[in-house]
Amino acid sequence: MQQSELDFINTLRQSSRYIEQHRGKTCVVYLPGEFIACKESVSQLSQDIGLLYNLGLKIVLVMGASTQLDDAFTNAGIDWQLHHQFRITPTELIPVFQQTIGLLRSQLEANFSQANCQQPNPPTLVSGNWVIAQPKGVINGIDFQHTGKLRKIRHQAISDCLDSGQVALLTPIAYSLTGEVFNLNTLEQACHMASAIKADKLMIYGSEAQLVNLPKQLSIPQMNMIMENAANDEQSRLLAQVAQTNFKVKRVHLMDQNNPSALLLELFSRDGSGTLIFSDRYHQLRPANIEDVGGILALIEPLEQEGILVKRSRERLELEIDNFVVIERDQLIVGCAALYPNDEQMSELACLAVHSDYQGQELGEELLKAIEIKAQKQAANKLFLLTTHTHHWFIEHGFHLADISVLPQKKQSLYNFQRQSKVLVKTL
Ligand SMILES: CC(C)(COP(=O)(O)OP(=O)(O)OC[C@H]1O[C@@H](n2cnc3c(N)ncnc32)[C@H](O)[C@@H]1OP(=O)(O)O)[C@@H](O)C(=O)NCCC(=O)NCCS
Repeated sequence: MQQSELDFINTLRQSSRYIEQHRGKTCVVYLPGEFIACKESVSQLSQDIGLLYNLGLKIVLVMGASTQLDDAFTNAGIDWQLHHQFRITPTELIPVFQQTIGLLRSQLEANFSQANCQQPNPPTLVSGNWVIAQPKGVINGIDFQHTGKLRKIRHQAISDCLDSGQVALLTPIAYSLTGEVFNLNTLEQACHMASAIKADKLMIYGSEAQLVNLPKQLSIPQMNMIMENAANDEQSRLLAQVAQTNFKVKRVHLMDQNNPSALLLELFSRDGSGTLIFSDRYHQLRPANIEDVGGILALIEPLEQEGILVKRSRERLELEIDNFVVIERDQLIVGCAALYPNDEQMSELACLAVHSDYQGQELGEELLKAIEIKAQKQAANKLFLLTTHTHHWFIEHGFHLADISVLPQKKQSLYNFQRQSKVLVKTL
């Protein structure tokens, strides 16, 4: 078999657990105007949505259009104003606004039809008056006119639409109960919609500025901390908007709008491609401190007795505590892992352990990711470890078996030939 065929088969095998995990789940995807403006991204997305639909996901697309509206108003010679990042929408803008959104929607439908024409059971893209708007009103003396805010979502109607096998599309256009047309912020709509229909995932494409320096995973307290020291206003606005969902959506994914494969990577690969903000884990992953020594010892001693982990004395643990990260749940240390920096840009992962009552909840994976991030921050480009019992778990998490000779010199000289541990290496 050729290498490319092998890679394909391995990738397919690895994605099977995600396919099973996502079947029947509801996903709201926010597409900013800048994303829609890129033809390649739109045509890739249309295909990918067809694939997700056939894998059993229920999809709501929320389409932004700021870039296109800016262009349309400029071309029509109409002046418009922003106030606190919101466009003021006077009555004379409305015809151009409706025309622009109508055209974009039609283009997206055309793309969608073309991308899925080969499928035996192609999804249909539908839009409707699911969102009820009301005027944003007069704020600090500024009348926002036809710029609206979300009043109500007909969430049952949209859930029925998804259950009947359709892909739902929302745009910035929404209507009030008096029949007036309003221009709604679509990121806000996506966040509210995801909460209202209790979506399993909210997937947001963002710009480079919005995503700059965000780590791969964020708990809510971590996100709140970043929000306070955001890299720029755009990032702080994006995170503030996500916070407004009150985390009724368990998982929010932030993806790079310039990466047309971001959606599939995020859903079907272990490391994803963007940032995952999660609210469904009530434990805390943090650097260990001296008070954790007792908890770590209680966790690792049974594993030491079984010979799974190498014995560590309390004194050694106290000296090396800064190398550890722990997961604490209800004041109990339920997981730990340590990173030992080394020369040659190769760091050692050691003492990865999850309490037996908490195994199988991906805590091991979370600890491994934290150690990888820590190693990268210390400029390591490889991670290695020695294990006697767990090499399969590590191989499934991106490591490969290696010879002792690849280890840093000092480690080679300390290698215990009686223990016959396997050497595993991962390139970061
Ligand atoms: C390895 C370990 C850290 C994984 O933690 P975890 O939180 O259960 O890991 P995850 O939830 O991310 O993964 C669970 C999966 O790994 C599998 N797994 C657990 N131990 C394994 C092992 N020794 N070999 C192969 N697979 C293993 C589980 O069967 C489960 O598979 P499934 O998803 O198909 O059901 C945990 O099992 C542990 O503490 N083991 C004992 C200590 C150890 O071996 N440490 C490594 C030495 S450095």
